[in-house]
Amino acid sequence: MIRTHLFFKTPITMKARFITLDGIDGAGKSTNLAVIKSWFEARKLPVLFTREPGGTPVGEALRKILLNPATQAGLRTETLMMFAARCQHIEDVILPALEKGIHIVSDRFTDATFAYQGGGRGVPLADIEILENWAQGSLRPDLTILLDVPLEVSMSRLSETREKDRFEQEEATFFTRVREAYLQRAATAPQRYAVINSNRDRSLVQADIEAALTQHFQLT
Ligand code: TMP
Repeated sequence: MIRTHLFFKTPITMKARFITLDGIDGAGKSTNLAVIKSWFEARKLPVLFTREPGGTPVGEALRKILLNPATQAGLRTETLMMFAARCQHIEDVILPALEKGIHIVSDRFTDATFAYQGGGRGVPLADIEILENWAQGSLRPDLTILLDVPLEVSMSRLSETREKDRFEQEEATFFTRVREAYLQRAATAPQRYAVINSNRDRSLVQADIEAALTQHFQLT
């Protein structure tokens, strides 16, 4: 798609980007989604904001089950439900938007499965990779903004929130493993991840997110 924009000096062919925002619970996703929204709005770039698990009626129904503290699901069942929601999301929302030239920003994606079900629950990463390839084909995020906070910060932010969901009720050791898994993934593909320390003044975090987006859109 050919699009001219003030942000770029000359008309360029802009491929729709698939951007994801991830991190442990309490890392500040909600606050920083607003920053990402403003960045896109300021540039008048077409964008669709969505989330996982969720994003479609089937996905939202699965989300209710997955987040309900009363749900008793084994780790394989939980992993498959995440991917079931994801398949529908990819087919109904993500691919159609990208094909139309609309950028996607997803609040969580498969990095969360590697971190929560892999790191947190102990599902072998190789098994998750098999599901990733099967469910997604070649679809991978172009850029993942990974918000990182020390565990104490995440825990204290969570304790301030409403009733905790099924994941938020997990112990600190679970979140230590989840955080570690996120950081390890990011370290293996630094060109795809912008790891942002969100345990700082909001304006500093905002500036880093804006810089990561600007750099991504200029370089790719
Ligand atoms: P959130 O949208 O408020 O972050 O809640 C979603 C929860 O689901 C969060 O605790 C992380 C968890 N989750 C997984 O465990 N695996 C996944 O693949 C995804 C997308 C989310």
